[in-house]
Amino acid sequence: MAENNSDKTIFISSDISADLSDFFNRQNPPKVFVLTDSNTFIHCLPLISKILPANTEIFTIPAGESQKNIENLQKIWNFLTENFADKNSLLINLGGGVITDIGGFAASTYKRGMNFIHIPTGLLSQVDASVGGKNGINFRDIKNIIGTIRFPDKILISPQFLKTLPHDEFISGLAEMLKHGLIADESHAKEIFGKDLFSEISNPDVLLPIIRKSIQIKTYFTNADPFEKGIRKALNFGHTFGHAFEQLSLKVGKPIKHGNAVAYGMICELFVSHKKLGFEMKSMLEIIEKTTEIFGKPDFDSDSIPELVSMMHHDKKNTDSQINCTCLSKIGKYEINVEISDETAKEALVFYKQLS
Ligand SMILES: NC(=O)c1ccc[n+]([C@@H]2O[C@H](COP(=O)([O-])OP(=O)(O)OC[C@H]3O[C@@H](n4cnc5c(N)ncnc54)[C@H](O)[C@@H]3O)[C@@H](O)[C@H]2O)c1
Ligand SMILES: [Zn+2]
Repeated sequence: MAENNSDKTIFISSDISADLSDFFNRQNPPKVFVLTDSNTFIHCLPLISKILPANTEIFTIPAGESQKNIENLQKIWNFLTENFADKNSLLINLGGGVITDIGGFAASTYKRGMNFIHIPTGLLSQVDASVGGKNGINFRDIKNIIGTIRFPDKILISPQFLKTLPHDEFISGLAEMLKHGLIADESHAKEIFGKDLFSEISNPDVLLPIIRKSIQIKTYFTNADPFEKGIRKALNFGHTFGHAFEQLSLKVGKPIKHGNAVAYGMICELFVSHKKLGFEMKSMLEIIEKTTEIFGKPDFDSDSIPELVSMMHHDKKNTDSQINCTCLSKIGKYEINVEISDETAKEALVFYKQLS
Protein backbone atom coordinates (compact mmCIF):
# COMPACT_ATOMS: atom_id res chain seq x y z
CA MET A 1 0.00 0.00 0.00
CA ALA A 2 1.29 3.45 -0.85
CA GLU A 3 1.50 5.86 2.10
CA ASN A 4 0.49 8.88 0.07
CA ASN A 5 0.41 10.11 -3.51
CA SER A 6 4.05 10.82 -4.23
CA ASP A 7 5.80 11.28 -7.54
CA LYS A 8 6.49 7.55 -7.28
CA THR A 9 2.81 6.63 -7.38
CA ILE A 10 1.28 9.12 -9.83
CA PHE A 11 2.18 8.75 -13.49
CA ILE A 12 0.90 11.31 -15.96
CA SER A 13 1.56 10.85 -19.66
CA SER A 14 0.00 11.21 -23.09
CA ASP A 15 -0.30 7.42 -23.31
CA ILE A 16 -0.30 5.17 -20.26
CA SER A 17 0.57 1.95 -22.15
CA ALA A 18 4.26 1.99 -21.25
CA ASP A 19 3.62 2.79 -17.56
CA LEU A 20 1.01 0.06 -17.29
CA SER A 21 3.21 -2.56 -19.00
CA ASP A 22 6.07 -1.54 -16.78
CA PHE A 23 3.84 -1.97 -13.72
CA PHE A 24 2.86 -5.50 -14.79
CA ASN A 25 6.49 -6.40 -15.50
CA ARG A 26 7.65 -5.23 -12.08
CA GLN A 27 4.74 -6.46 -9.94
CA ASN A 28 3.67 -9.49 -11.93
CA PRO A 29 0.33 -9.78 -10.06
CA PRO A 30 -0.94 -13.38 -9.98
CA LYS A 31 -4.51 -12.26 -10.83
CA VAL A 32 -5.77 -9.04 -12.40
CA PHE A 33 -9.30 -7.64 -12.13
CA VAL A 34 -10.68 -4.54 -13.81
CA LEU A 35 -13.69 -2.57 -12.60
CA THR A 36 -15.43 -0.37 -15.17
CA ASP A 37 -18.78 1.32 -15.54
CA SER A 38 -20.98 0.82 -18.60
CA ASN A 39 -19.40 3.83 -20.37
CA THR A 40 -15.77 3.20 -19.57
CA PHE A 41 -16.25 -0.45 -20.53
CA ILE A 42 -17.05 0.75 -24.06
CA HIS A 43 -14.78 3.79 -24.38
CA CYS A 44 -11.77 3.18 -22.14
CA LEU A 45 -11.21 -0.54 -21.74
CA PRO A 46 -10.24 -0.95 -25.44
CA LEU A 47 -7.41 1.54 -24.89
CA ILE A 48 -5.71 -0.75 -22.37
CA SER A 49 -7.03 -4.21 -23.23
CA LYS A 50 -3.97 -5.24 -25.26
CA ILE A 51 -1.73 -4.61 -22.26
CA LEU A 52 -3.82 -6.59 -19.77
CA PRO A 53 -2.75 -10.17 -19.00
CA ALA A 54 -4.79 -12.81 -20.88
CA ASN A 55 -6.66 -14.10 -17.81
CA THR A 56 -7.84 -10.65 -16.64
CA GLU A 57 -11.42 -10.66 -15.33
CA ILE A 58 -13.61 -7.63 -15.98
CA PHE A 59 -16.53 -6.47 -13.83
CA THR A 60 -18.87 -3.71 -14.97
CA ILE A 61 -21.48 -1.72 -13.06
CA PRO A 62 -23.97 0.72 -14.62
CA ALA A 63 -22.74 4.34 -14.91
CA GLY A 64 -23.90 7.07 -12.56
CA GLU A 65 -23.66 8.46 -9.05
CA SER A 66 -26.64 6.40 -7.84
CA GLN A 67 -24.54 3.26 -8.50
CA LYS A 68 -22.03 4.14 -5.80
CA ASN A 69 -24.06 2.07 -3.37
CA ILE A 70 -23.87 -0.88 -0.99
CA GLU A 71 -25.49 -3.28 -3.50
CA ASN A 72 -22.77 -2.71 -6.09
CA LEU A 73 -20.09 -2.85 -3.40
CA GLN A 74 -21.40 -6.26 -2.43
CA LYS A 75 -21.40 -7.35 -6.10
CA ILE A 76 -17.74 -6.32 -6.40
CA TRP A 77 -16.82 -8.24 -3.23
CA ASN A 78 -18.75 -11.25 -4.61
CA PHE A 79 -16.93 -10.99 -7.91
CA LEU A 80 -13.54 -10.91 -6.16
CA THR A 81 -14.45 -13.81 -3.87
CA GLU A 82 -15.86 -15.99 -6.65
CA ASN A 83 -12.71 -15.42 -8.69
CA PHE A 84 -10.45 -16.32 -5.73
CA ALA A 85 -8.82 -12.92 -5.47
CA ASP A 86 -6.22 -12.72 -2.73
CA LYS A 87 -4.21 -9.90 -1.21
CA ASN A 88 -1.64 -10.08 -3.98
CA SER A 89 -4.21 -9.83 -6.73
CA LEU A 90 -4.64 -6.47 -8.38
CA LEU A 91 -7.85 -4.49 -8.89
CA ILE A 92 -7.67 -1.80 -11.57
CA ASN A 93 -10.34 0.88 -11.23
CA LEU A 94 -10.95 2.22 -14.73
CA GLY A 95 -13.47 5.03 -14.72
CA GLY A 96 -14.63 8.30 -13.24
CA GLY A 97 -14.89 9.20 -9.58
CA VAL A 98 -17.70 6.73 -8.96
CA ILE A 99 -15.48 3.83 -10.03
CA THR A 100 -12.34 5.03 -8.24
CA ASP A 101 -14.36 5.67 -5.05
CA ILE A 102 -16.29 2.37 -4.93
CA GLY A 103 -13.45 0.28 -6.39
CA GLY A 104 -10.96 1.82 -3.95
CA PHE A 105 -13.33 1.04 -1.09
CA ALA A 106 -13.93 -2.53 -2.24
CA ALA A 107 -10.17 -3.16 -2.60
CA SER A 108 -9.18 -1.46 0.64
CA THR A 109 -11.61 -3.63 2.63
CA TYR A 110 -11.33 -6.96 0.75
CA LYS A 111 -9.10 -9.26 2.85
CA ARG A 112 -8.25 -6.13 4.86
CA GLY A 113 -6.73 -4.56 1.79
CA MET A 114 -5.69 -5.95 -1.60
CA ASN A 115 -3.54 -4.19 -4.18
CA PHE A 116 -5.31 -1.64 -6.34
CA ILE A 117 -4.50 1.02 -8.88
CA HIS A 118 -6.62 3.80 -10.35
CA ILE A 119 -6.84 4.70 -14.02
CA PRO A 120 -9.14 7.72 -13.83
CA THR A 121 -10.81 8.40 -17.15
CA GLY A 122 -12.75 11.64 -16.58
CA LEU A 123 -11.29 15.08 -15.93
CA LEU A 124 -12.78 15.38 -12.44
CA SER A 125 -11.47 11.99 -11.41
CA GLN A 126 -8.01 12.73 -12.85
CA VAL A 127 -7.47 16.01 -11.00
CA ASP A 128 -9.54 15.30 -7.91
CA ALA A 129 -11.36 12.05 -7.06
CA SER A 130 -8.53 9.57 -7.73
CA VAL A 131 -5.96 11.63 -5.82
CA GLY A 132 -5.87 11.88 -2.04
CA GLY A 133 -6.71 8.38 -0.84
CA LYS A 134 -10.39 8.82 -0.04
CA ASN A 135 -12.59 5.87 -1.04
CA GLY A 136 -16.23 5.27 -0.30
CA ILE A 137 -19.88 4.82 -1.13
CA ASN A 138 -23.12 6.67 -0.55
CA PHE A 139 -25.45 5.18 2.04
CA ARG A 140 -29.07 6.03 2.91
CA ASP A 141 -28.96 8.98 0.50
CA ILE A 142 -25.93 10.46 2.26
CA LYS A 143 -22.94 11.01 0.01
CA ASN A 144 -19.64 9.36 0.90
CA ILE A 145 -20.78 8.54 4.44
CA ILE A 146 -19.07 5.12 4.48
CA GLY A 147 -15.45 4.90 3.38
CA THR A 148 -11.75 4.48 3.99
CA ILE A 149 -8.63 6.52 3.51
CA ARG A 150 -6.16 4.33 1.70
CA PHE A 151 -3.91 5.25 -1.19
CA PRO A 152 -3.76 3.18 -4.38
CA ASP A 153 -0.45 1.60 -5.35
CA LYS A 154 -0.43 3.67 -8.54
CA ILE A 155 -2.50 6.22 -10.36
CA LEU A 156 -2.04 6.28 -14.12
CA ILE A 157 -3.40 9.44 -15.71
CA SER A 158 -3.67 10.38 -19.35
CA PRO A 159 -5.71 12.84 -21.41
CA GLN A 160 -5.98 10.04 -24.01
CA PHE A 161 -9.17 8.91 -22.22
CA LEU A 162 -10.82 12.31 -22.27
CA LYS A 163 -11.60 12.30 -26.00
CA THR A 164 -14.90 10.47 -25.37
CA LEU A 165 -15.85 12.42 -22.23
CA PRO A 166 -19.12 14.38 -22.63
CA HIS A 167 -18.77 18.19 -22.61
CA ASP A 168 -20.72 18.70 -19.35
CA GLU A 169 -18.50 16.20 -17.53
CA PHE A 170 -15.38 17.98 -18.80
CA ILE A 171 -16.70 21.35 -17.60
CA SER A 172 -17.51 19.86 -14.21
CA GLY A 173 -13.88 18.75 -13.81
CA LEU A 174 -12.64 22.16 -14.90
CA ALA A 175 -14.36 23.75 -11.88
CA GLU A 176 -12.23 21.73 -9.45
CA MET A 177 -9.13 22.77 -11.40
CA LEU A 178 -10.17 26.40 -11.14
CA LYS A 179 -10.60 25.87 -7.40
CA HIS A 180 -7.02 24.58 -7.20
CA GLY A 181 -5.84 27.71 -8.99
CA LEU A 182 -7.79 30.08 -6.77
CA ILE A 183 -6.63 28.54 -3.49
CA ALA A 184 -3.01 27.99 -4.45
CA ASP A 185 -1.76 29.36 -7.76
CA GLU A 186 -3.07 32.36 -9.69
CA SER A 187 -1.27 31.34 -12.90
CA HIS A 188 -3.19 28.05 -12.87
CA ALA A 189 -6.51 29.90 -12.60
CA LYS A 190 -5.43 32.15 -15.48
CA GLU A 191 -4.61 29.13 -17.64
CA ILE A 192 -8.09 27.76 -17.07
CA PHE A 193 -9.72 31.06 -17.97
CA GLY A 194 -7.27 31.62 -20.81
CA LYS A 195 -8.61 29.26 -23.46
CA ASP A 196 -11.44 26.96 -24.43
CA LEU A 197 -9.84 23.81 -23.04
CA PHE A 198 -12.61 21.52 -24.26
CA SER A 199 -11.62 22.33 -27.83
CA GLU A 200 -8.13 21.06 -26.92
CA ILE A 201 -9.45 17.72 -25.69
CA SER A 202 -7.40 15.80 -28.27
CA ASN A 203 -4.29 17.88 -27.69
CA PRO A 204 -2.13 16.43 -24.91
CA ASP A 205 0.44 19.21 -25.34
CA VAL A 206 -2.11 21.64 -23.94
CA LEU A 207 -3.96 19.43 -21.47
CA LEU A 208 -1.13 17.45 -19.94
CA PRO A 209 0.71 20.32 -18.21
CA ILE A 210 -2.52 21.83 -16.89
CA ILE A 211 -3.73 18.49 -15.53
CA ARG A 212 -0.29 17.91 -13.99
CA LYS A 213 -0.35 21.31 -12.26
CA SER A 214 -3.80 20.69 -10.83
CA ILE A 215 -2.77 17.29 -9.47
CA GLN A 216 0.33 18.83 -7.90
CA ILE A 217 -1.85 21.27 -6.02
CA LYS A 218 -4.27 18.60 -4.85
CA THR A 219 -1.46 16.29 -3.69
CA TYR A 220 0.25 19.13 -1.86
CA PHE A 221 -2.80 19.46 0.41
CA THR A 222 -3.70 15.77 0.71
CA ASN A 223 -0.16 14.61 1.48
CA ALA A 224 0.31 17.31 4.09
CA ASP A 225 -2.98 16.45 5.77
CA PRO A 226 -4.45 13.11 4.58
CA PHE A 227 -7.07 12.94 7.36
CA GLU A 228 -8.36 16.49 6.84
CA LYS A 229 -7.51 17.85 10.27
CA GLY A 230 -6.30 21.16 8.88
CA ILE A 231 -5.03 22.44 5.56
CA ARG A 232 -6.75 19.79 3.42
CA LYS A 233 -9.89 21.80 4.21
CA ALA A 234 -8.61 24.44 1.78
CA LEU A 235 -9.88 22.06 -0.92
CA ASN A 236 -13.40 22.63 0.40
CA PHE A 237 -13.39 26.13 -1.09
CA GLY A 238 -16.66 26.56 -3.00
CA HIS A 239 -18.17 23.43 -1.47
CA THR A 240 -20.21 24.87 1.43
CA PHE A 241 -22.47 26.88 -0.87
CA GLY A 242 -21.80 24.44 -3.71
CA HIS A 243 -23.28 21.44 -1.90
CA ALA A 244 -26.41 23.48 -1.12
CA PHE A 245 -26.82 24.40 -4.82
CA GLU A 246 -26.29 20.75 -5.75
CA GLN A 247 -28.82 19.53 -3.18
CA LEU A 248 -31.43 22.11 -4.19
CA SER A 249 -31.03 21.20 -7.85
CA LEU A 250 -31.73 17.55 -7.01
CA LYS A 251 -34.73 18.48 -4.91
CA VAL A 252 -36.36 20.51 -7.68
CA GLY A 253 -35.65 17.78 -10.22
CA LYS A 254 -33.14 19.77 -12.32
CA PRO A 255 -29.82 18.22 -11.25
CA ILE A 256 -26.65 20.15 -11.95
CA LYS A 257 -23.14 18.73 -12.15
CA HIS A 258 -21.04 18.79 -8.99
CA GLY A 259 -18.37 20.98 -10.59
CA ASN A 260 -20.89 23.55 -11.75
CA ALA A 261 -22.33 23.68 -8.24
CA VAL A 262 -18.80 24.22 -6.88
CA ALA A 263 -18.21 27.03 -9.40
CA TYR A 264 -21.40 28.76 -8.15
CA GLY A 265 -20.32 28.06 -4.57
CA MET A 266 -16.94 29.67 -5.22
CA ILE A 267 -18.66 32.87 -6.36
CA CYS A 268 -20.68 33.06 -3.12
CA GLU A 269 -17.63 32.22 -1.05
CA LEU A 270 -15.63 34.93 -2.83
CA PHE A 271 -18.36 37.39 -1.82
CA VAL A 272 -18.03 36.14 1.78
CA SER A 273 -14.23 36.43 1.40
CA HIS A 274 -14.68 40.04 0.30
CA LYS A 275 -16.86 40.80 3.33
CA LYS A 276 -14.80 38.94 5.93
CA LEU A 277 -11.22 38.94 4.66
CA GLY A 278 -11.17 41.93 2.33
CA PHE A 279 -10.82 39.96 -0.93
CA GLU A 280 -10.50 42.67 -3.58
CA MET A 281 -13.81 43.59 -5.24
CA LYS A 282 -12.28 44.18 -8.70
CA SER A 283 -10.61 40.78 -8.73
CA MET A 284 -13.83 39.16 -7.50
CA LEU A 285 -15.88 40.71 -10.29
CA GLU A 286 -13.36 39.58 -12.92
CA ILE A 287 -13.48 36.01 -11.62
CA ILE A 288 -17.28 36.08 -11.55
CA GLU A 289 -17.44 37.21 -15.17
CA LYS A 290 -15.08 34.52 -16.42
CA THR A 291 -16.60 31.81 -14.25
CA THR A 292 -20.08 32.64 -15.53
CA GLU A 293 -18.85 32.39 -19.13
CA ILE A 294 -17.70 28.81 -18.56
CA PHE A 295 -20.16 27.46 -16.00
CA GLY A 296 -23.29 29.59 -16.46
CA LYS A 297 -25.39 30.61 -13.46
CA PRO A 298 -27.50 28.64 -10.99
CA ASP A 299 -31.24 28.67 -11.41
CA PHE A 300 -32.71 29.57 -8.00
CA ASP A 301 -35.35 32.04 -6.95
CA SER A 302 -35.25 34.36 -3.97
CA ASP A 303 -37.80 32.22 -2.11
CA SER A 304 -35.30 29.34 -1.95
CA ILE A 305 -32.58 31.40 -0.21
CA PRO A 306 -33.68 30.39 3.35
CA GLU A 307 -33.70 26.75 2.25
CA LEU A 308 -30.19 27.02 0.79
CA VAL A 309 -28.98 28.49 4.10
CA SER A 310 -30.67 25.72 6.04
CA MET A 311 -29.01 23.13 3.77
CA MET A 312 -25.64 24.70 4.55
CA HIS A 313 -26.29 24.17 8.26
CA HIS A 314 -26.54 20.45 7.64
CA ASP A 315 -23.29 20.32 5.70
CA LYS A 316 -20.94 17.71 7.19
CA LYS A 317 -18.11 20.25 7.32
CA ASN A 318 -19.81 22.21 10.12
CA THR A 319 -18.65 21.36 13.58
CA ASP A 320 -21.50 23.08 15.41
CA SER A 321 -24.45 25.22 14.49
CA GLN A 322 -22.38 27.85 12.68
CA ILE A 323 -21.91 27.69 8.89
CA ASN A 324 -18.25 27.20 8.12
CA CYS A 325 -16.30 27.68 4.91
CA THR A 326 -12.89 28.18 3.38
CA CYS A 327 -12.32 31.78 2.26
CA LEU A 328 -9.59 33.68 0.43
CA SER A 329 -7.98 36.99 1.36
CA LYS A 330 -6.54 37.04 -2.16
CA ILE A 331 -5.95 34.48 -4.93
CA GLY A 332 -3.60 31.83 -3.55
CA LYS A 333 -4.11 32.82 0.10
CA TYR A 334 -6.80 30.87 1.91
CA GLU A 335 -8.18 30.71 5.40
CA ILE A 336 -9.94 27.56 6.63
CA ASN A 337 -12.77 27.33 9.19
CA VAL A 338 -14.20 30.79 8.56
CA GLU A 339 -17.47 30.93 10.47
CA ILE A 340 -20.22 32.88 8.83
CA SER A 341 -23.58 34.05 10.10
CA ASP A 342 -26.85 33.17 8.38
CA GLU A 343 -27.16 36.86 7.50
CA THR A 344 -23.84 36.84 5.62
CA ALA A 345 -24.79 33.62 3.83
CA LYS A 346 -28.11 35.18 2.76
CA GLU A 347 -26.35 38.36 1.68
CA ALA A 348 -24.01 36.33 -0.56
CA LEU A 349 -26.96 34.55 -2.18
CA VAL A 350 -28.89 37.81 -2.67
CA PHE A 351 -25.77 39.36 -4.23
CA TYR A 352 -25.42 36.40 -6.60
CA LYS A 353 -29.11 36.40 -7.47
CA GLN A 354 -28.97 40.09 -8.36
CA LEU A 355 -26.00 39.82 -10.71
CA SER A 356 -27.30 40.41 -14.21
N1 LIG B 1 -12.46 10.49 -3.31
C1 LIG B 1 -12.38 11.79 -3.47
O1 LIG B 1 -11.52 12.47 -2.93
C2 LIG B 1 -13.38 12.45 -4.37
C3 LIG B 1 -13.19 13.78 -4.78
C4 LIG B 1 -14.09 14.33 -5.67
C5 LIG B 1 -15.18 13.58 -6.11
N2 LIG B 1 -15.33 12.30 -5.68
C6 LIG B 1 -16.46 11.49 -6.13
O2 LIG B 1 -16.36 11.32 -7.53
C7 LIG B 1 -17.67 11.15 -8.07
C8 LIG B 1 -17.82 12.07 -9.24
O3 LIG B 1 -16.83 11.74 -10.20
P1 LIG B 1 -17.13 11.87 -11.77
O4 LIG B 1 -17.63 13.22 -12.07
O5 LIG B 1 -15.93 11.35 -12.47
O6 LIG B 1 -18.39 10.89 -11.91
P2 LIG B 1 -18.62 9.54 -12.74
O7 LIG B 1 -17.69 8.49 -12.32
O8 LIG B 1 -20.08 9.28 -12.62
O9 LIG B 1 -18.26 9.96 -14.23
C9 LIG B 1 -19.07 10.88 -14.89
C10 LIG B 1 -19.60 10.28 -16.20
O10 LIG B 1 -18.55 10.25 -17.14
C11 LIG B 1 -18.47 8.96 -17.72
N3 LIG B 1 -17.09 8.75 -18.15
C12 LIG B 1 -15.98 8.72 -17.39
N4 LIG B 1 -14.89 8.64 -18.17
C13 LIG B 1 -15.33 8.63 -19.44
C14 LIG B 1 -14.67 8.59 -20.71
N5 LIG B 1 -13.34 8.59 -20.80
N6 LIG B 1 -15.44 8.57 -21.83
C15 LIG B 1 -16.81 8.62 -21.74
N7 LIG B 1 -17.47 8.69 -20.58
C16 LIG B 1 -16.74 8.69 -19.44
C17 LIG B 1 -18.95 8.02 -16.64
O11 LIG B 1 -19.38 6.80 -17.16
C18 LIG B 1 -20.10 8.84 -16.05
O12 LIG B 1 -21.25 8.70 -16.84
C19 LIG B 1 -18.66 11.45 -6.95
O13 LIG B 1 -19.16 10.24 -6.47
C20 LIG B 1 -17.80 12.12 -5.90
O14 LIG B 1 -18.28 11.90 -4.59
C21 LIG B 1 -14.46 11.73 -4.82
ZN1 LIG C 1 -15.75 18.78 -5.32
